[in-house]
Amino acid sequence: MSLPQLNSVLTINRLPASACSSITFKQTTDAVSLHVSKSAAHSEIPTEQTLRLLLEGETQLRGRLLSGSNAVYLVDLQMNGLIAKAIYKPVLGERPLWDFPPDLSYRERGAFLVDKALGWNVVPPTVLRKDMPFGLGSVQLFMPSDHKHHYFTMIANDHLRPQLERICALDIVINNADRKAGHCLLDDNGEVWAIDNGLTFHHDLKLRTVIWDFANNKIPSSIQHDLQRLLDSGLPDQLKRTLAPVELEATLKRTRELLLAGHFPTMSRSLGSLPWSLV
Ligand SMILES: Nc1ncnc2c1ncn2[C@@H]1O[C@H](COP(=O)(O)OP(=O)(O)OP(=O)(O)O)[C@@H](O)[C@H]1O
Ligand SMILES: [Mg+2]
Repeated sequence: MSLPQLNSVLTINRLPASACSSITFKQTTDAVSLHVSKSAAHSEIPTEQTLRLLLEGETQLRGRLLSGSNAVYLVDLQMNGLIAKAIYKPVLGERPLWDFPPDLSYRERGAFLVDKALGWNVVPPTVLRKDMPFGLGSVQLFMPSDHKHHYFTMIANDHLRPQLERICALDIVINNADRKAGHCLLDDNGEVWAIDNGLTFHHDLKLRTVIWDFANNKIPSSIQHDLQRLLDSGLPDQLKRTLAPVELEATLKRTRELLLAGHFPTMSRSLGSLPWSLV
């Protein structure tokens, strides 16, 4: 991978606390900082407006996050008085993988589309954009979160379990091959977000996740209802345009089988069912 280097780009290992405080929701005279929330009580900006900002906002590259194995950039977006931070993952910066083609950005977007169709709002708004500094890539709303928390700390909290259950079900549907604990973020409103959804939708079963606490549990009826609705309405049109037919069919098959089972699956392949690293 050779990406152009920008001298002005600042390098970030982990987002410093100062970066986080500057993105908390603040209303200034000239701009409203964008915050997306699942609950109507917290919601300030409708998702459609968020998506437009991600898709069309004027972009400024702020830095590269070195924690990812792919090239991952923090960008500032601005449009019509709205500002937001986002995570940009260019196709050019993807580390080649033996089992996935270089199109993880499409899969990042696909995970958002399926989550949206299910009505779960666990994946931050995500778009695909070509007019970015390093070309085509996914642009996902940056979710400020408490880095002390990850899946293994959250699962102990009963209030968070329903959200984690939905992430568990989503990962089975999209066949997530890399659900690390640290890719479940907890925001200030107690909402859990699932990030890094690129290794998904493979036609072979590749579920690798840390979320096995629900194994054998009955799938809650609300989740069953949403899965059935997805099957009834069909997969989102945009997903149909970006995934291979065999991947689309496999997605429907996993959804049907999960519904039919009525229970969350158990770990089948011992260590092969876990991602590396775990957090
Ligand atoms: N939407 C988001 N909101 C907040 N932080 C994010 C978001 N997306 C990514 N990050 C941050 O960027 C880091 C790297 O992103 P990501 O994990 O998606 O990249 P990756 O190259 O696939 O990483 P990995 O090698 O861990 O799979 C994450 O660990 C997280 O700290
Ligand atoms: Mg990853």
